[in-house]
Amino acid sequence: MLDHKTIYILAIESSCDDTSAAVLMNDKVLSNIVATQAIHKEYGGVVPELASRAHQQNIVPVVDQAIAKANIDKKQLSAIAFTRGPGLMGSLLVGTSFAKSLSLGLHIPLIEVNHMKAHILAHFIDDENMKAPTFPFLALTISGGHTQIVQVNDFFDMKIIGQTLDDAVGEAFDKSAKILGLPYPGGPLIDKHAANGNHLRFNFPIPKVKDLNFSFSGLKTSILYFIQKQTKEDPNFILDNLEDICASIQYTIITILMLKLKKAVKLTGIKEIAIGGGVSANSGIRNALLEAQTKYGWNTYVPKFEYCTDNAAMIGIVGYYKYKNEIFAQQDVTAKARYLIS
Ligand code: KG4
Ligand code: ZN
Repeated sequence: MLDHKTIYILAIESSCDDTSAAVLMNDKVLSNIVATQAIHKEYGGVVPELASRAHQQNIVPVVDQAIAKANIDKKQLSAIAFTRGPGLMGSLLVGTSFAKSLSLGLHIPLIEVNHMKAHILAHFIDDENMKAPTFPFLALTISGGHTQIVQVNDFFDMKIIGQTLDDAVGEAFDKSAKILGLPYPGGPLIDKHAANGNHLRFNFPIPKVKDLNFSFSGLKTSILYFIQKQTKEDPNFILDNLEDICASIQYTIITILMLKLKKAVKLTGIKEIAIGGGVSANSGIRNALLEAQTKYGWNTYVPKFEYCTDNAAMIGIVGYYKYKNEIFAQQDVTAKARYLIS
């Protein structure tokens, strides 16, 4: 293991629609800049071609800002870490190519990072408001593209023990929001409207899926039929009941997640539970996990808000541990749209 006094990692994340760059000094975040692409709002979802073009425009200023905010010189950087996948190919290519060129230019090592692993290992960022889980722990990764339960035995020893068979939980939030006429991405808006709603007002079905797997496509369909039926009878139904509808949808989604988490704890005997991914910003899931601490005796870990949604700091923390273990990538490394956790 390399034992340097201070390691500076520049990290780049460009897997979907956020261009992000961060600088870490060992496991501490010195800067974490995120440029969110507003253009997709008009289209109700991420348009891959537009995303890669926006990454091209954003990447240089975002990296410059991250380095300036960290108040270091490029020459001090020990390595460049970047998201290799999973994600949109056109988006990944921008970050990958940029990282490869900079590593060549600065003569420093290149580190490839799996985006989903980064969502899990974000918990190891040294921050006064966060505590890292102890191994082994269960990670519930919930984002716009993934829903997984991962058994994490060590930094580089992880196994997926459950996952969605169709839509990801973030998609379930976003598609439900779309049915309600809310703009993209609708997940945070459902969360916001749910805050004052009655979650028991409307009932949506809990799917029966085997093992530790999830399914969200049936829920989306039942919400669609329910809304179509109600608005036929009363055109103002959504407007008049938005808070209760959002609270009921959110409650159903969280019930589905918690049922599987409870099953995973029972099967593995592991009570250390960490969440990661954009949907872990949801206040309902955060509260449910807090409750589970006293109710079931779990130790639960929720990352700071800015480390939940896509960000480069989480890529940087994986970069730091890979650097310490001398796990470097070569210049011929390529982006991977599908990249499973192993
Ligand atoms: O991890 P992430 O930023 O990007 C992906 O890798 O997919 O996750 C984005 C997803 C979106 O579906 C978004 O609606 C959802 O996370 N999300 C939320 C909340 N904040 C973000 N869903 C529910 N409640 C939130 N507060
Ligand atoms: Zn993500």
